[in-house]
Amino acid sequence: RTSTLLRTHTCGELRLEHVGQRVTLCGWVDSYRDHSGILFVDLRDRYGRTQLVFDPQSGEETQKLARTLRAEYVIGVTGTVVKRPEGTENPALPTGEIELRVESLKIFNKSTPPPFYPTAKETPAEDLRLRYRYIDLRRPAMQRTLLLRHRMIKIMRDYFDELGFIEVETPMLGRSTPEGARDYLVPSRIQHGCFYALPQSPQLYKQILMVAGYDRYVQVARCFRDEDLRADRQPEFTQLDLEMSFVEAKDVMGVIDGLMARLAKELLGMELSLPLLQMTYDEAMERFGHDAPDLRFGMELVDLTDLAKDCQFRAFREVALQGGRVRAINAPGAAARYSRKNLDDLTKFVVENFGVKGLSWFKVEADGILNSPIAKNFTPDELGRIRQRLSAKAGDLLLVVADTFEITCKALAALRKRFGAELQLYDPGAFHFSWIVEFPMFEYDAQEGRWTAMHHPFTSPRPQDLPYLSTDPGRCRAQAYDLVINGYEAGGGTIRIHDQQLQQQVFQILGIDAEQAKERFGFLLEALQSGAPPHGGIALGVDRLVMLFAGLDNIRDCIAFPKTQRATDLMTGAPSPVEPKQLEELGITLRSAKNR
Ligand code: AMO
Repeated sequence: RTSTLLRTHTCGELRLEHVGQRVTLCGWVDSYRDHSGILFVDLRDRYGRTQLVFDPQSGEETQKLARTLRAEYVIGVTGTVVKRPEGTENPALPTGEIELRVESLKIFNKSTPPPFYPTAKETPAEDLRLRYRYIDLRRPAMQRTLLLRHRMIKIMRDYFDELGFIEVETPMLGRSTPEGARDYLVPSRIQHGCFYALPQSPQLYKQILMVAGYDRYVQVARCFRDEDLRADRQPEFTQLDLEMSFVEAKDVMGVIDGLMARLAKELLGMELSLPLLQMTYDEAMERFGHDAPDLRFGMELVDLTDLAKDCQFRAFREVALQGGRVRAINAPGAAARYSRKNLDDLTKFVVENFGVKGLSWFKVEADGILNSPIAKNFTPDELGRIRQRLSAKAGDLLLVVADTFEITCKALAALRKRFGAELQLYDPGAFHFSWIVEFPMFEYDAQEGRWTAMHHPFTSPRPQDLPYLSTDPGRCRAQAYDLVINGYEAGGGTIRIHDQQLQQQVFQILGIDAEQAKERFGFLLEALQSGAPPHGGIALGVDRLVMLFAGLDNIRDCIAFPKTQRATDLMTGAPSPVEPKQLEELGITLRSAKNR
């Protein structure tokens, strides 16, 4: 399969059964050792490593040339496969029982000394890896991940093909789409002052495809969002994007359930039981404080608001009486592990990141007494009730936050995540797939004093919530569903509005007036009046899925050529200044050239 004119086998292929054969291998010099006149070279390609032997039988010429070999030289060798002498086998290598006695050597190319060695045990610093990505991509860990990515996308394409989906490509140069992030803009040379936007997703095109009658669309689609980057976000990422006509939410989720089962089986050797668990948004926020909860472990949030309302401690009582919430988590057995200093650090972490006023803690002593700097503010009865409500046992650490519902969610969800990892409350190799459903349609942006779409403005409300659109938009729940894996949002989708009037009503709530709507999405509104079927879909984050399936925690490790947190490509130097002539053609004058 891999034999070419230049090689007969790969470096991962030869076994005892090949002994005696004359073969040709090509690859990179991984390491070389000179043992009293015999030169051993490990030859590497992306299939594996094979030991080469240059001994006097190789001939003086070849041996001399072999002595000039250095790390990462790319060479071709011809020789005979022999069994390694007894006691020199390497059981760690699949090719470890044989070696190649080299008869001829060709150096295709030399290499400057590499900035790091691809098979070194330690992972090199990330900026070096990104700068010299061609060396980094030689590392077996990167090869495994890219191979997994290839297989995942192949399985996806096969699966959707079997279900009758067709892949349709949508434009990169398009109009701004409203996924809520900042657009990457591309200036038009022909129409100065006009810009294309790179797609934040193919959202509008796929809805138009439904109107056009392509009732099962799928695409491995590149998306672009200019937003603050994190370990699970890239400015340029890949979605498995799909849309279906004549479906309800359960049908779309059913298709994805089937896909997850197939991916889990083929890539992880794991049987998923279907349907995947579904939990409403409200339940997730109540029990876990997060809309993408990590369900590999419990440690649920516990409500103490009713107890706080008539407790002696003023800080809790006032929050509870003023409509806030007092909520807590129980970090099992953590009391001894967390010193005063650790708890001060945790307090600082939640105060600085989530704006809570403070973090209260209690350590449960052997006799059941709650030990805390604030314990004296409670009666023994009150402390007993707190302990009971949290099912606290000796050695547990209780953390309490009193604040608005939103802030208690954010702070306690972050603490839960931290304790889950630090106390190893789950097996890092475990997987938990679930759906979060019935998201609110709208979120209120207090700063701007207006409603924003929680998913995007084309999302359909639940039919039973339609009356709330005019009376209480905050109560309106959407036909929306997010796929959550191990605490990460792996995908999200909705049933769309297919009625132009309802679409306009939603635009109105979002403060998009008729004129703006016509200007920005006129083509969609027109299409919705041209025979639009009921439809809905979803997009999965492929990079995130690869990250999760590969057991990694950094999305950059799942992309061949990723960007840094500052959205730069350290290898090519993008983004970069351009020639003044190019700017002139585009009708662009720079106001300042700082930050270059
Ligand atoms: P959404 O914006 O939720 O939905 O995106 C879908 C999924 O894409 C992944 N994702 C990202 N991955 C890496 N880097 C990013 N910057 C990034 N942003 C999003 C996430 C997310 O769940 N058009 C809708 C889908 C629909 O309604 O059908 C959309 O794009 O895993």
